[in-house]
Amino acid sequence: MLDRAICHYQTRVNNTLATIFNQLPITDAKLLEAMRYAVLLGGKRVRPFLVYASGEMLGAKTEHLDALAAAVECIHAYSLVHDDLPAMDNDALRRGQPTVHIAFDEATAILAGDALQTLAFEIIAECPLPAYAEANRIKMIQVLAKASGYQGMCGGQAIDLASTGQRIDINKLTQLHQLKTGALIRSAVQLGMLAAPNGSAEEHASLVDYAEKIGLAFQVQDDVLDIVGDTEQLGKPQGSDLAADKSTYPALLGLDGARDVAQTLYQDALTAVTKLPYNSELLEQFARYIIERNQ
Ligand code: IPE
Ligand code: IPE
Ligand code: MG
Ligand code: MG
Ligand code: MG
Repeated sequence: MLDRAICHYQTRVNNTLATIFNQLPITDAKLLEAMRYAVLLGGKRVRPFLVYASGEMLGAKTEHLDALAAAVECIHAYSLVHDDLPAMDNDALRRGQPTVHIAFDEATAILAGDALQTLAFEIIAECPLPAYAEANRIKMIQVLAKASGYQGMCGGQAIDLASTGQRIDINKLTQLHQLKTGALIRSAVQLGMLAAPNGSAEEHASLVDYAEKIGLAFQVQDDVLDIVGDTEQLGKPQGSDLAADKSTYPALLGLDGARDVAQTLYQDALTAVTKLPYNSELLEQFARYIIERNQ
């Protein structure tokens, strides 16, 4: 069930993104090519999956989730392009290919990231929404903007850079991971919720709780894979965190300690969704995938 759903949603968001890119005018061919390269070539599409699975669980039609799934993936792809830059993690491999600044050049990578970021908001501002969700459009933009910027991913990336080569305590490390990765994952679930007709405030809160747990677990597992993963399978360089002396869960707690945290977060995520009066099976299976994945 999970594998089929992952494939199905990957295909949907890939088709949506391809359509969006095919409709863009060629302002600058190289920049457009770099944007396509960053977004269309690979990626697990975890955040789109969460838009679809949470939205559909609350009664949204799949076609009303496509644009939102594409938008959050544009933000994510931009974050990866900038994360790999020489001034940040200085990595040369992403999604099994040379990173954007290697395949193109650094200035183009910066601009491709910038343009992908704003494209995400264009997509949400312009996409068709059902009448009941129209009132939520500004809220959707707000949720994605907050999750991406100073109070979310960018803030977390700044803490990540400041913590490199330093020892930080578990509270600071948790905040770092919640912001750099958790916030965008949470926003994906919130976008699904905001496009759906069902769900009380209390149910929404439980779903957000689930999203926060798996969002943090996702980065804990990313840290674990930096140690136990395989470059070819990961599509990005194994050992990059170790080489750069990054602040990670395994660095602070050891590999087993990090795995224990992921396991606890997984259990907490299950507790949050199983109490919902909807069929949450897909979200439960996905939570498990997050902590068991090897790519
Ligand atoms: C990698 O994200 C960066 C993190 C936030 C940990 P993903 O593991 O979702 O990367 P793709 O999209 O599958 O390439
Ligand atoms: C990146 O964290 C989080 C982002 C905001 C992109 P990492 O630096 O650990 O991501 P990877 O391991 O390079 O994918
Ligand atoms: Mg990084
Ligand atoms: Mg990185
Ligand atoms: Mg990593």
